[in-house]
Amino acid sequence: MSHRLALAALLALALPTALAQSTAAPAPSAAAAPAAVPAAFTLAPLPYPHDALEPVIDTRTMQIHHGKHHQAYVDNLNRAVAADPSLRGLTLEALMARMSTLPAAVRNNGGGHWNHDFFWRTMTRPGQGGAPSAALAAAIDRDFGSLDKFKAAFKTAGTGRFGSGWAWLIVGADGRLQITSTPNQDNPLMDLVAERGAPLLGNDVWEHAYYLQYQNRRGDYLDAWWQLVDWSVVSQRYAAATAGKRG
Ligand SMILES: [Fe+2]
Repeated sequence: MSHRLALAALLALALPTALAQSTAAPAPSAAAAPAAVPAAFTLAPLPYPHDALEPVIDTRTMQIHHGKHHQAYVDNLNRAVAADPSLRGLTLEALMARMSTLPAAVRNNGGGHWNHDFFWRTMTRPGQGGAPSAALAAAIDRDFGSLDKFKAAFKTAGTGRFGSGWAWLIVGADGRLQITSTPNQDNPLMDLVAERGAPLLGNDVWEHAYYLQYQNRRGDYLDAWWQLVDWSVVSQRYAAATAGKRG
């Protein structure tokens, strides 16, 4: 299997099916409309109450981050897609795969929508996230030396991102784990990023994610955030991303 095919298969396996279903639900078609169905991206509710991540992430930050910032990405994405009939009916993942050809408004807001939905579902109540599966733990040891070394390298990626962006753990086309960082709302699914792969977890290092509570202390936020990571979800993503890599 070529690297290109391997990556395509890997990305397909890693796609968040629930997101595709919840965000790309077809809108009611106009009378006598042809087959093209307008995409109607929607903001899904948080998978937990706004105060569930206290004291690591405060309630007010969650209210603003989800209800204002994420909502704005959804609204602006819908405007951008509505302005280009060729994009109607495409899933968010399909947009990511051809992002190099699309307007900045789709890149920024499509990325913003996908990234935040992924982010909310990466977290759970403090201390409830369990531990990496045996397979993921072994991969972390193989590729980073230990879980602590992985966390330290991830923090370096997050604190090293100048301005706004994200830090990611991905499975690359070769099946190995990689830490990456993207600016703004880019993500590892986009065809325009240098380091593509299947995201396993991602942390939002925009100031809007932490400033009310942590102010300029991004490193403290990155340290505390591990209390929220839902390793069962991350491990399921790893299993999906690597399922086609053996045999
Ligand atoms: Fe954000």
